[in-house]
Amino acid sequence: MTKPVSIAILAAGLGTRMKSRKAKVLHRAGGLTLVEHVVRASLELTSAASVGVVVGHQAEDVRAALSHYPALRFATQTEQLGTGHALLTTRSLFPSEDGYVVVLYGDTPLLTAETVRTLLQRQDLSNAAATLITTFLANPHGYGRIVRNETGDVAAIVEQKALSPGQEAIREINSGIYCFRADLLWSHLAALKPNPKSGEIYLTDIVESFNATGHRVAPMAIEDPAELLGINTRVELAEVDRIFRGRKARQLMLDGVTIEQPETVAIDVDVEIGIDSTIEPSVRILGKTRIGSGCSIGMGSVIRDSVLDDDVNVDAYSFIGTSRVGARSQIGPFARLRMDNEVAPGAHIGNFVELKKTRFGSGSKAMHLAYLGDSTIGDNVNIGAGTITCNYDGMKKSPTVVGNNAFVGSNSTLVAPVEIGADSYIAAGSVITDQVPGDSLALGRARQVLKPGWPSKRKADRKK
Ligand code: UD1
Ligand code: MG
Repeated sequence: MTKPVSIAILAAGLGTRMKSRKAKVLHRAGGLTLVEHVVRASLELTSAASVGVVVGHQAEDVRAALSHYPALRFATQTEQLGTGHALLTTRSLFPSEDGYVVVLYGDTPLLTAETVRTLLQRQDLSNAAATLITTFLANPHGYGRIVRNETGDVAAIVEQKALSPGQEAIREINSGIYCFRADLLWSHLAALKPNPKSGEIYLTDIVESFNATGHRVAPMAIEDPAELLGINTRVELAEVDRIFRGRKARQLMLDGVTIEQPETVAIDVDVEIGIDSTIEPSVRILGKTRIGSGCSIGMGSVIRDSVLDDDVNVDAYSFIGTSRVGARSQIGPFARLRMDNEVAPGAHIGNFVELKKTRFGSGSKAMHLAYLGDSTIGDNVNIGAGTITCNYDGMKKSPTVVGNNAFVGSNSTLVAPVEIGADSYIAAGSVITDQVPGDSLALGRARQVLKPGWPSKRKADRKK
């Protein structure tokens, strides 16, 4: 289609029925805010400069949530006086009366660009003033209902609250997705009167306004209502989230990823996973995570904004946040790579080991019960069970450096800032406060005292 397309996304409402302090469109489904889903679909259809988001409640937060689309336009609706009023605030963003204005609601995130494209084509081939997407729901409660006229066009949209007893049975609903002829929209919109009961200007009233001047409004009924689910409560939020997760898991499986019990797994929409990776039940893979091929993610693990190279094995119940894990590394079970770690290829991080802001060298091992914070661990290092870096003195964080091939004995306490040279040994149970040069053995513990016969002497003394 060659005609210009502008898209207005209405997202200024608080969403009272969410019972939340947060604006409705900032709630998340599939890992993205609701409004971002709608923005993404819009950007598949037109340029960011032709997309206007109407913000109102928590306007600054909504803008911030979309700040990674710098060319996007915004209109501010300071008072939420209804969907018609909201659309009117975008008038100055779209001065041209050529082409079409598509209206989307920020709380309808499952909509695909494909469906809107069909809507545009349908409108473009017709002589209607507007085309709107409808569908038939088994339970239409809460939605505006479509009243058709004798020719099958839309005579009116009646909101739930205004339904007459006879209209309760109408199962065809207004999706909130419309395509208007730009040359007709604005004058009709500006003339709409507030609803006498609520005082709001309903965009849906424009249908009767068009009809009154001899313009048709065409319905485009679509079969799959899933795409049109509008979120008003947290029950619907959970349902939409489940649908996004399902779509994502299905796509990954079709692309060569094994997912066991996919209905228990939550994978955000932007996650990438390579072929022949296996995802066990109850795993969450979030944010911008990228997982290579041949990886295995154990049951109950959570991975957020991280990169795992090929053939990484993450055992059950591990957490990985903003970290990179090199190929063939073995993580967990029960490991925590808290944040900003870089684990080199072929490393082993075992159970109850926590890493924070740590570079962990290739082939190195920390198999059990350790905390490594603000540290740089060389290659082929062994970190014994119970090793702790004391990286925080109550005021500031300090670094720990362990050179290549060093061996840190179990239950060592490394008091940072401290450096252990390459090839050195730390005796088990040491408290290391001073620099250890390379190729040395450091012992930092009380020498063992042995008193042979002490228990029997004690017994004898007691009998006296
Ligand atoms: C609306 C429709 C209804 C339709 C349903 C589909 C109207 C009057 N009703 O009802 O026919 O079946 O959507 O989901 O249009 N908004 C603003 N400013 C406002 C009011 C709303 O930006 O002043 C935004 C909201 O943030 C939301 C969207 O418009 O994203 C829809 O508002 P909402 O209050 O959810 O309308 P519904 O009652 O769902
Ligand atoms: Mg709604």
